[in-house]
Formats: sequence, structure tokens, C-alpha cells
Amino acid sequence: MHKIILNLKNAKYPIYIGNETLSKFPSLCKAHRIKPHLAIVTDKIVAKLYLDELLSVLKKSGFSPEFIIVNPGEKSKNLFVLSEIITQLIQMKLRRDETIIAFGGGVIGDLAGFASAIYLRGVNLIQFPTTLLAMVDSSIGGKVGIDHKFGKNLIGAFYHPIFVFSDVSFLKTLPQREIICGLGEVVKYGIIMDSEIFKMLETQLEDVLKLNSRVIQNLVYRSVIVKSRVVSKDEREKKLRMILNFGHTIGHSIEASLNYKRLKHGEAVMLGMIGESFISLNRGILRKAEFERIRKVISEAGVVFPKKFLAKTLILKHIGYDKKIFSERLNMYLPVKIGRMKFFNDVSLEEIENAIDFLFNQN
Ligand SMILES: NC(=O)c1ccc[n+]([C@@H]2O[C@H](COP(=O)([O-])OP(=O)(O)OC[C@H]3O[C@@H](n4cnc5c(N)ncnc54)[C@H](O)[C@@H]3O)[C@@H](O)[C@H]2O)c1
Ligand SMILES: [Zn+2]
Repeated sequence: MHKIILNLKNAKYPIYIGNETLSKFPSLCKAHRIKPHLAIVTDKIVAKLYLDELLSVLKKSGFSPEFIIVNPGEKSKNLFVLSEIITQLIQMKLRRDETIIAFGGGVIGDLAGFASAIYLRGVNLIQFPTTLLAMVDSSIGGKVGIDHKFGKNLIGAFYHPIFVFSDVSFLKTLPQREIICGLGEVVKYGIIMDSEIFKMLETQLEDVLKLNSRVIQNLVYRSVIVKSRVVSKDEREKKLRMILNFGHTIGHSIEASLNYKRLKHGEAVMLGMIGESFISLNRGILRKAEFERIRKVISEAGVVFPKKFLAKTLILKHIGYDKKIFSERLNMYLPVKIGRMKFFNDVSLEEIENAIDFLFNQN
């Protein structure tokens, strides 16, 4: 099992990454002085697949876990479901020094993580991610929260877990499309900071998609290192953390212009990365060969720009809503080679427009 320590100003905690390591989970809880009474928060799909197993492993080691099950999907990330969770925590009499386990994908991590932050002004949290996206992205960095009808992630906090426990064997049941979605962020880590990740994707994509556990564990490990490194240098989203937005300015706008239907976040981000790399190519700061490598990996992952369903004007309109906008120029990190980014504060809307044109003109 790998262990990465995330070292922050006011928090320091480990992220464990293993394969078939569930049996070690209770002893890790004990090592971290987790009290026996626990509340597992999960969704219906994860509960059906894995809850019995988790409960039994914990009970065998002397824990008394209880659980709260919510409906799967983004639609559960709201104030109403949050309030239901809090009600059940009160009914369970979960105490201030006891622990919530967020057992599921990013939705559960955000929702249960936020419940942990506010219930009794904060109880212990363990992040136990079960999707690739949650393992490489949402469980790391302490952002938790819920959506509001006016927008996604508008209500939330920074709240760190006692530890994160990622076991890649849980990914075996994850639908292929969800794997691709998580891969979007992995490709991103390769381009922004770790060209080895990128090379692994170039040479072993088939093994990755087949979930070869050795390869996938290695990818998760390297991805977590990249995200941890960025987050520990910039906890509160000043400048450096913006590097994690690579692919997201254009990606978000594509997603939003489709009303969050048809494309999943990770797929939209992959297309956004092609677009934003095109800006670099056009500026002459990224070599054509590097650009083509980026394009190739993304197309081999099977992500296609759904041009039939998209309108350029609508995508551009959503760029205008993007919070990174600064007068008429955008602040953005752009790739200068695979594994290295540079910060620019002068990206024009015209350059974005050209990048979107490029996406439309691909076959
Ligand atoms: N906090 C952050 O820093 C951060 C970063 C990125 C994304 N997010 C949030 O993460 C959420 C997306 O996360 P996600 O993609 O994991 O979505 P998700 O939690 O909805 O999970 C996707 C689907 O997979 C199912 N599932 C989970 N684990 C499974 C398993 N092992 N086998 C089979 N099915 C499984 C879930 O029930 C769900 O239907 C969004 O709400 C997004 O805002 C947060
Ligand atoms: Zn993302």
C-alpha cells in the first residue's frame, strides 16, 4: 500500500492507496484513534455493491458502524438531502469526537464531507473514495460542499479528513464511462506536471481501460502526488491552484452549454484540454508534435466532440460566466510542453474563439 502525506498549514494527513486492502481499513482506523461508533454515508449503488462487506470488516474489528444511504448522483448534492443526513446523525447520537466515513464517489465525498464540517461544528471525517474521479481528484484538497439551484458547488467549506483510503479494487464495478471521466483529470495531471503519467497513458491506455490493477494503482498514486503538491502549495485557490483548472475553462463552458447532459465532466474537460492546448499551439509556445500527442491520447480514450449538439455562441456565452474572467482577458495556465505549464494573464476571447473553432473543425 502506498502512503502519501498531505502537508498543509493547519492539517497534515495521509492518503493511502492500495489494491484489495479493505481488510487493513479497521487497523488504520485504530491507528488514527477513530472511536468505535461510526456513521457511514453512501449512495444506493455503492451500498448495494459494498456496504455489507465494509460493515462486516468493521464489526469484526470491534467497530459499531451505522449507515445513511442517499440516492446516487449529483441531484443528491443539495440542502434538502444534507438536512436529512444531519437529522439521521442526530438520531444516531453521533458525538463530536466520533467519525463520518464518506463512502462513494465525488458526490458522497462532497456531501458527507460538508455534513462532517457543519454537524456539531465539525466531526471527524474519513474519505473513502470509490470512483476514479474521487480517488484522484475530489477526495484530495479538502473542498466539500453542495449545489444550489442557481449553480453547482455554491455552498461549501474547506474541511480535511483524518485520512483518505483509496482501494483501486473498488473500481472493478465502475461503468467504463465513469472510468473515462476520472481519466480526464489523470490526463490533466500528466500535462500540467508529470509527463510520466502522460507516457503511461500513451503506452498502456488499453491496460488502464481494462483496469489492470498494477497500472491503475500507479496512475492513482502519481495523480494524487500531483494534486497534493499543488494543493499543499496553494490551499485556498490563489494562483497555483489555478493550474488544476487546465481544460476546465473551455470544458465547463461546453458542459454548461449542453445543460450538463450528453457529456460528463471528465469528457468535457478532455475536450477543453485540446482547446486550451490549441491556444498554446497558436501562440507558438507548444510544439505541434506535443499538441498531437495530447489530441491522440484523448481521442484514443474515445472522447468525441459532439458538434451536432453544440453551438459556438452558446459555449462563448458560458465562458463569459466563468469566474476566472478578468475584464476582457482571461487568467490561464497554458501548456508549454507535456508536463509543464506557464501562467498567462492575457488570453483573449478571440483566442478562445479560435480554439472552439478548432474543436468544431475536427473530424
Ligand atoms: N471537492 C472537490 O475538490 C471536487 C473535485 C472534483 C469533483 N468534485 C465533485 O465530484 C462529483 C463527481 O464525482 P463522481 O464522478 O465520483 O460522481 P458520483 O459520486 O456521482 O459517482 C458516479 C456514479 O458511480 C457510482 N459508483 C460509485 N462508486 C462505484 C463503484 N465502485 N462501482 C460502481 N458504481 C460506483 C455512483 O453511485 C454514481 O452513480 C461532482 O459533484 C463534483 O462536483 C469535487
Ligand atoms: Zn474537473
